Amino acid sequence: LLLALSAVLVSYLIGSVPAASWLAHSRGVDIRKVGSGNSGATNVLRSLGKGPAFLVAAFDILKGALAVWLARALGLPPEWVGLCGVAAVIGHNFSPFLGFRGGKGVATSFGTIAVLDPVAGAGAFVLGVFTMWLTRFVSAGSILGALTAGILVVALGRPGWLTLVILFLAALLIWQHRANIGRLTAGKESRLGEKVR
Ligand code: G3P
Repeated sequence: LLLALSAVLVSYLIGSVPAASWLAHSRGVDIRKVGSGNSGATNVLRSLGKGPAFLVAAFDILKGALAVWLARALGLPPEWVGLCGVAAVIGHNFSPFLGFRGGKGVATSFGTIAVLDPVAGAGAFVLGVFTMWLTRFVSAGSILGALTAGILVVALGRPGWLTLVILFLAALLIWQHRANIGRLTAGKESRLGEKVR
């Protein structure tokens, strides 16, 4: 149990590394004060461009994947492996380095889900990216992707722990997008390609 609890704590800490905030800070930008104010790859794209956004997205995806890989490498039972993945996303969204605030967990949830359930991950990716391409709203694509993962995990009859983990991550992701949902319905959400500084 001590090993499992330590793994959850380490996963939380891995997730809490705020790549977007720190990379933006190193370029003289306070990510909380530009664009959507969110510490995530989308807002880095808006304020710093494609290269930095790609780096942040890749790093944040890896945080989720790494937490799951680490838990598996330790030989933990599947429920604990899932919990480690969740802990990484919680770390990203509620980071001690950002006063327990953070991002919306899109990339990190994707990394976690892709390793836990590659089919659900791939389905979420395809539908999410297609929606982003179609609407130019990253938030809408993220929400649709999360819904897809949730529907797939239920439809595929995955084990209870995996279903619970993915449904929780999908619900948390949608909750974190509540301001985006408000902007989307008010017609005020910014589209891909709109830059701010
Ligand atoms: O990365 C989260 C994305 O879905 C929305 O980000 O900055 O437009 O709120 P943002």
